[in-house]
Amino acid sequence: MALELGRRGTFIHALGRRSERLDELIAELPHGGLAHVVDVTDHAALRGAMGLADTHGASGPLDLVIANAGIAENGIESRDAADAAAQVLAVNAAAAAATLEFGKEFMRQRGVGHLCAISSLAGTRGLPGAPAYCASKAALSTYVEAMRFGLARTGLSITDVQPGFIKTPMTDRNRFPMPFLMEIEEATRRTVDALERTRPPSILRYPRRLAWPLRLAAGILPGWAWQRALGEK
Ligand SMILES: NC(=O)c1ccc[n+]([C@@H]2O[C@H](COP(=O)([O-])OP(=O)(O)OC[C@H]3O[C@@H](n4cnc5c(N)ncnc54)[C@H](OP(=O)(O)O)[C@@H]3O)[C@@H](O)[C@H]2O)c1
Repeated sequence: MALELGRRGTFIHALGRRSERLDELIAELPHGGLAHVVDVTDHAALRGAMGLADTHGASGPLDLVIANAGIAENGIESRDAADAAAQVLAVNAAAAAATLEFGKEFMRQRGVGHLCAISSLAGTRGLPGAPAYCASKAALSTYVEAMRFGLARTGLSITDVQPGFIKTPMTDRNRFPMPFLMEIEEATRRTVDALERTRPPSILRYPRRLAWPLRLAAGILPGWAWQRALGEK
């Protein structure tokens, strides 16, 4: 997304933990960018980096904040399920909420800007194998929906992006079938197109051929039928 936005003319402030990956990214941005080596679970450091980005002369103030950092159980080495759950919830729910709140705090002073959360179709209803991931994404989507009430009359808006399976290092580790797996270029193009609209959508779900049946089934199936449909045979 950073590359796609950068190619379309945006100055990028990229946050992550791996400085070498961030440096590689910044080198590819045609309109410039700045790397901020931050673990988003350190909320003070996160706020500090976002504050720096907001006052950075070359880029102008923040006008788009994307809470994208995310992890899943499959990327955590700890064998302690409770510890893994806490880590997933800390990044995907608590740190994402902090990112959105800091973005709101900085941008509302000017009364213009857009917030975006990358949640997931996995938040639609509990799925097998990744309880913390599903719960964290459901929490994030609900957070965004609730936060939207408080944005009325601030001049800010917010989009909840709910992708299906996208080919990234996160899904490269999966050993189960991933229906309608989408290439990252297609996913980023759809997301950035939506964010660049004059009025970005409140919710963006893709691919539709996964989102619709999933949401329909999630809405009508009672718990036992949901378990039977998705449970291990
Ligand atoms: N791939 C999919 O199928 C899919 C579907 C729906 C939603 N999503 C969501 O899309 C987002 C991006 O995921 P991805 O598929 O691109 O996975 P990925 O390739 O594993 O990328 C995860 C990103 O999150 C950053 N990150 C993780 N923990 C962090 C932390 N504590 N502090 C700062 N940055 C952190 C990573 O940077 P560093 O490691 O350098 O910190 C990396 O840039 C996630 O929120 C994910 O849940 C993915």
